[in-house]
Amino acid sequence: MSNYISTFENPFKPGAGHTPPYLAGRNLEIQEFEKLLKQNTILKNLIISGLRGIGKTVLLESLKPVARKDNWLWAGTDCAESVSVSEETMAMRILTDIALITSNIKIGTIAKNEIGFGDDKKTSDVYLNYSYLVAYFAEIPGFISDKLKATLEMVWQHLETLQTIKGFVFAYDEAQTLSDHSEDKQYPLSLLLDVFTYIQKKNIPFILVLTGLPMLLANLVETRTYSERLFHVVMLEKLTKEESKMAILKPVEMSQHPLRFNENAVEEIAQQSGGYPFFIQYICREVFDVFLQQLSAGQELSIPMDAIIQKLDSDFFSGRWAKATERERDLLTLIANSGKTKFKVHEIVSLSEGGKVKSFGRSQVSQMFKRLIAAGLLYRDSNGNYSFAVPLLEKYILRVQDKNY
Ligand SMILES: Nc1ncnc2c1ncn2[C@@H]1O[C@H](COP(=O)(O)OP(=O)(O)OP(=O)(O)O)[C@@H](O)[C@H]1O
Ligand SMILES: [Mg+2]
Repeated sequence: MSNYISTFENPFKPGAGHTPPYLAGRNLEIQEFEKLLKQNTILKNLIISGLRGIGKTVLLESLKPVARKDNWLWAGTDCAESVSVSEETMAMRILTDIALITSNIKIGTIAKNEIGFGDDKKTSDVYLNYSYLVAYFAEIPGFISDKLKATLEMVWQHLETLQTIKGFVFAYDEAQTLSDHSEDKQYPLSLLLDVFTYIQKKNIPFILVLTGLPMLLANLVETRTYSERLFHVVMLEKLTKEESKMAILKPVEMSQHPLRFNENAVEEIAQQSGGYPFFIQYICREVFDVFLQQLSAGQELSIPMDAIIQKLDSDFFSGRWAKATERERDLLTLIANSGKTKFKVHEIVSLSEGGKVKSFGRSQVSQMFKRLIAAGLLYRDSNGNYSFAVPLLEKYILRVQDKNY
């Protein structure tokens, strides 16, 4: 029996962008996307936002087949920082993404400029591929935005004639990294928003789906105030108790593994993970391995939760925590102890007065928050409230604090 059991692979998949064995919850979000695909004229695009590890990337991936089934083309990538270096890089990114999907679509033939071979008219086929798109783009006079608008219009003219294609989804992950750079007079994010607004006004069914950390919408609104109207925002939340249970139970069930998590185990994992998908995958993966070993040693099944949390702390949290300076850690510890999930600068200033550590001034807190946002530990919403950008960071901070004292 033990050998038989150990031949099964651990079904859990903790890791950025790793498709989970079972996507728990998220049905409403998928329906929202389906609704947006039904728009006659695209008035709303989609933002999927949420904390680190909440499941943005895997949800985006699971929207792809939904779009394809409904005859939409799907292009998109991870937005590495380099995408929005300049307007040119942004435009080329979009053209590349289109070409990857359309390069086998034949749009005509041209006469070849070949000499000889009698009257033989040589022709060659023209495809909607990268070199064609770039050549077309280069021929258009004016600004990069004019060139891109005209090229996208041309692309749709061709796709429309195929009659089988409903539209084109442009999906960009980690879109919080997109930005303008006024110091270099480069406005790639403005370009993206302006071009899509223009295209959609022309009744061309190209829709943007952006995913990213919670500051994404605020970033976009700062660049173009009309972004607020341009996007429907789906905030991904942690899974409910029921959804968490499914996320824990289904993968084992589906793998047809003889091992089963008992009710206590499910309860404990659901509780410790706080319903955050990454933590569910992480804890389940550990528990699964431990259970297998206990089983083959003929022991009773029990979860060494302390050790698992310890491992999670060093794998996931400690690297992030290391990004904060000593003084910033004091500030974050103060916040974690207050139990506040949303906070404003002045609240934290008053909180620090009369505390154990040296109090913090207003401008000091503002400065630190700014740095902590850049370090990925905090984020600021459009109402000026700050929150932890890493799920369950406050609990980790309290654990660290307890160990120090
Ligand atoms: N609905 C879900 N059900 C079960 N597991 C999930 C679900 N969503 C995400 N996961 C798992 O959680 C982990 C994190 O998912 P994902 O990488 O999509 O998060 P993310 O929000 O994109 O994170 P980041 O902000 O770091 O990019 C992965 O291991 C994934 O398999
Ligand atoms: Mg992601």
